[in-house]
Parts: sequence; structure tokens; C-alpha cells
Amino acid sequence: MTELGVTIDEGDRVEVDGGVVELPREHTYLLLHKPVGVVTTMSDPQRRSSVADLVTRPGLFPVGRLDFATSGALLLTDDGELAHRLLHPRFGVEKTYRASIAGRLSSEDVHRLIEGVMLPEFRAAAAKVRVVAVRRDSSVVDVTIHEGRNRQVRRMFEALGHRVLALTRTRFGPLSIGALAPGRFRELTPRERTALERHRRPPA
Ligand code: URA
Repeated sequence: MTELGVTIDEGDRVEVDGGVVELPREHTYLLLHKPVGVVTTMSDPQRRSSVADLVTRPGLFPVGRLDFATSGALLLTDDGELAHRLLHPRFGVEKTYRASIAGRLSSEDVHRLIEGVMLPEFRAAAAKVRVVAVRRDSSVVDVTIHEGRNRQVRRMFEALGHRVLALTRTRFGPLSIGALAPGRFRELTPRERTALERHRRPPA
């Protein structure tokens, strides 16, 4: 073929001067609203419901994990390099969680979340706290953190004496869960893809 400006599709075999050209592989990026009661693995030896039951495309894996009892934004991809970067502490991707907690959240609690609460392995500080509702026996609060230690948000509230009643990740980096219903997934928008690409390079 000698035409100029020919369109090449995924799976096409391209030869130049008799040699085969390797085309960059298109990756898949899906945002899943993980429901409560689903494990963040592609298979579970205990045969509990897993994200693989919700997204059946082969080759995908979850970027990080959410607890069995936590719902919300979970990125699934087959792009191992980007996944590694998004999870690396050096990149400090922001994650926002909406927590419904038992008890009345005080301004002292908010202060301690920002200052950082001592967990056994490190001081866990919230990058942002937004109080959504404070009632006599329960409160709702949005907490943004950079790390993703095991049960971090639950442990931060437990350290303040508040039991977490429900926890949802509303945002993972540039990806917001929006109106996506629990159990549903969607492709990322071009704008979200571009925003994710920025995480391929370390912050300046
Ligand atoms: N923090 C938690 O406590 N649980 C999660 O699933 C994620 C963050």
C-alpha cells in the first residue's frame, strides 16, 4: 500500500519496508461504582461476590482496593504502568470519601482530622474536610486523603471515637462517581483520560 493518510485500526497488521510495525496497544479504563458487599479482587477463594462478577471483560484489574463494606469509585484497567503510578505514594493521588459516622462531629474532631490522628504506623491527616451534616447522633463528612492505607478513613474516625456507619469513595483523582449507580460501570470520558495521563509523570 502506498496511499498517504490511511487509517489504521486496532488489530491491523502494518508493514513498512517489509518489517512489521508494532502498534501501541489501546488500554481500557473503566470507572465502576463498587457496591457494598463486593470484594475488590478479580476472584475470591471464599466465593464472595467480587468486582469480576460486575465487570466481565478479561485482563482488567482494580487500581487499589476498597473494603468489602465500602462503596464507590474504583478504576479498572489493563494499564499496569499507570495503575502503579496512581497507587505510588509519591504521586499522592487525592481520594475523597463521604463518611456517615455515629455521633456528633465537633469542630475539635475536624481540627484533629486536619492536624492528623496517630495510627499505629503513621500520622494520618486529611488534606480536606467538608462537613455535610451534623445531627445529634450522626454526622456526614467528606474527607480527602492522599494515602490509601488499610481501612484508613475508618481508623481515622475510630481514633476520634466515631464509628463509621457508611463509607463511599466519591472521587479517585480526577474521577468522580457522580450519578453512576452502585454496580454500574462506564468508560472514562476523553477529558478524564487526559486528566489521568497527567499522573503518568511525577509531580514537579
Ligand atoms: N478507607 C477505609 O477505611 N476503607 C476503604 O475502603 C478505603 C479507605
